[in-house]
This record gives sequence, structure tokens and C-alpha cells, in this order.
Amino acid sequence: MRALRIGLLGLGQIGSAFYSLLHQKREYFEKEIGVRFDIVKVAVKHRSKKRHVSIASNILTDRAEDLIQDASLDVIVELIGGTRDARRLVSQALRAGKHVVTANKALLAEYGDEIFELANRKRRWLLFEASVGGGIPVIKALREGLVANRFDSIYSIINGTCNYILSEMTAKKTDFKDALNQAQAKGFAEADPRLDLDGVDAAHKLALLVRFAFGGKVKLKDIYCEGISRIRSEDIAFAEEFGYRVKLLAIAKKTKDGIEARVQPTLLPKDHILANVNGSFNAVLFRGDEVGDSLLYGRGAGGHPTASAIVSDLMDIALRQETRFDEDEIQMRAIRKPLRIKNISSILSRYYLRFHVVDRPGVLAGIARVLGAHRISISDVIQKERSVGNIVPLILLTHDAHERNVRNSLRQIDRSHGIQGKSQVLRIEGN
Ligand code: HSE
Repeated sequence: MRALRIGLLGLGQIGSAFYSLLHQKREYFEKEIGVRFDIVKVAVKHRSKKRHVSIASNILTDRAEDLIQDASLDVIVELIGGTRDARRLVSQALRAGKHVVTANKALLAEYGDEIFELANRKRRWLLFEASVGGGIPVIKALREGLVANRFDSIYSIINGTCNYILSEMTAKKTDFKDALNQAQAKGFAEADPRLDLDGVDAAHKLALLVRFAFGGKVKLKDIYCEGISRIRSEDIAFAEEFGYRVKLLAIAKKTKDGIEARVQPTLLPKDHILANVNGSFNAVLFRGDEVGDSLLYGRGAGGHPTASAIVSDLMDIALRQETRFDEDEIQMRAIRKPLRIKNISSILSRYYLRFHVVDRPGVLAGIARVLGAHRISISDVIQKERSVGNIVPLILLTHDAHERNVRNSLRQIDRSHGIQGKSQVLRIEGN
């Protein structure tokens, strides 16, 4: 029977789920799949901490190096998250001749070049299915199932926490804070939820998708990233009136002068397939030149789905054990030449603009004049009745406009008399 001896780094939410999965399905893997997975050692920060899983104390260590130095281990599964220790330990594991499976998208988004290169140099597998889309086999789809395609675009919902919050705010009118508390209680959120809310987690994942879909290096800082913290319930309600839902999308598009790569709260028509992906679900919509549109949908966060993806990588390693390691050409292509990522200021999009304005003659005309002067054409307007004092919300949708022009006009409008506070600007996709 094929067998893998595993060292596990980290026993948090994902580590515990992974440990339990291998424990509970041991017989199934051995009898029906023909693979034996043995977790031989587990490294944790604090050995005495109370755990959700019962684990023999003789396999627990608080010295991660014990795993690296254990010559009997075939694979290190890295689930500690963060980049500092993970970078050091993953590199040490590869240098020590071990394969590595990781769920760490931050690590690969920031240090992918050096880690993929090291894995190839050391002729070891570095697999990371769990880093994007939880239990959905997104990386496998890109590397294998869709390998015949050149991609025009990827539209994705790849942060379960943000999708959960926006879905709750839309369906149940829950406020932002309550929805975030629920997402944290359900175990979707990162240890530092700002990574979710600021769009950074989604940007890490998009960086990986772009590397493998478009075949080249991507610097994380080149991916434009906006989170959901400034989305107000009123924006969700106004979007709804215009026939849209608000979703945090991670988008990559090939254009004639480079690749657009951005994470942003986006208005999507209600009947768009991604507008109907709710809760902690993730979805990735690829547009390939051979398959056309291809949608992957599933649970993108949480212990069980992520553990499922980790096992799929381990299975690959177990199946490849007897084959000779040749250069992983697809991984090398993803680190060879830099991709040309467009600056956000040069994109063309439709926009949702929301202002709080003094309700008096000439204010709307003033806004329209500034937009017109920047060649921005308005497609739709709503102004609400007075509710608080003399201030009313005014919402405009635009036709396609250049981001640079939109930003310049908003700077000017926000300084004008009759405008209260900072305007809200969201991009519209999918019409
Ligand atoms: N915090 C992530 C999410 C979990 O909410 O999608 C998996 O990366």
C-alpha cells in the first residue's frame, strides 16, 4: 500500500479539521483508496493548550524544527499561517528533502517566486490547493482540467467572510458588525479579520490565480485592493433598487495593453450567476478560449472544506511517489517572466456614485457639470426624500468611464459646497 508519513505544522481551526479527517477516514483511505496517511508529529506553539481534537501527547511538540529534522517524514503540511515562520519552515522543509503541502496564500502571494523556485531546485512537490477557494479544486482545474485554455478573464468570489457579511447585510439587513461576528464564530475569518475585510486575503488568492491562469509573475502590490469596510447598508439598498447586488469580487481580465487585476466591492446585476453565490460560498468563473465560461462553486472557507483540499494534495504526492520528479513546468512558468499588470487609474468601467448632498437647487446640476467636464456620462439617477435635516442621498450610475476621470471629478465634487462627507464610489460589472 502507498503510505505517506506526515509532519503537521499547526493545530488551529484548519489543522484540527485536517487531523480529524485523517483520523476518521483512516479505514476508507486504506481499504478503498489504497493509501495510508500517518500523522507522525504535530508541531504547535503551546503544547498544553486545550484542543478540539484528542491527540496523543507523544506526537505533539512545540519545536517545529523537530519535524524538519525528522528524516522519516515524507511531507510537511504547513497550516500555521502568517508569513514569517511559515517562510522559514517551508524553505527548511524543502531543503531537507520533504514535500510540502500548504494552505498559506499569503506566503505564496508574497514569496511564491523564491518558494516555487526552491521546490523545483530541490525536486520536491509544493502543493497548495487549499490556499484558494477552500474545498473547491481551483488550482487543479487551472493546472489540469483547463490546461488547454488561454484565459480572457476570471471573475471570482474568493473570500468567504466578506461574501457572508455582504449576503447577511443584503438578505437579513444585518448590520456589518453583527455579520462579522457571525462569520468569526463560524470560523471563516482569518485570525486577523482585517485581512478579509480589507480585501487582502482575496488579493493573495487572486495573485495565485493570475500567476497560473496567465502564466507569469505577479507582485502583490500591483493588484489593486479595496475591501468592504466602507460599504453601508444604504449602498446595498440603493444597489438593489437599481437591480444590482454588492459582492466582493476578485477580477482578472486580459486586455490589449496588459492584465487588469483587482479586488473590489462590485455591483453585479441580480441575475448574474455570481450575484447568487451567497454565505461563505466561493465561486470562480473562468472564461477560457476553448471552454467558454466555466464555473467552480463550493465552500471556500472553514475547516472541513479546507482539509478536503489538503488531502487532495497529499493524494497527489502519494500517487507520484514512484515517479521521477521532472521540473514542474507549469509552476516554473508562473515565476519566469513578469506579467504586465495595468494600473487601476487606466481601467474603463461603469460606476455607482453616492453623495450626501444639501437638498437645494443647483447641487445636482453642479455634480453633473463636473462629471460632464470629465467626459463621464450619467446613465441613471435616484435622489431620496429628505429624512435627516436638509441632507439627502443622491445616487448616480455612469456609462463606461475612465477610472482616472472618475477619481479626478470626485475630488472636485467632494470639495464643492452642498456636498457632505466623502462620496462613495463602486464599480459595476456584468452588463
Ligand atoms: N478567511 C478566508 C475566507 C478563509 O474568509 O475566505 C480561507 O482562506
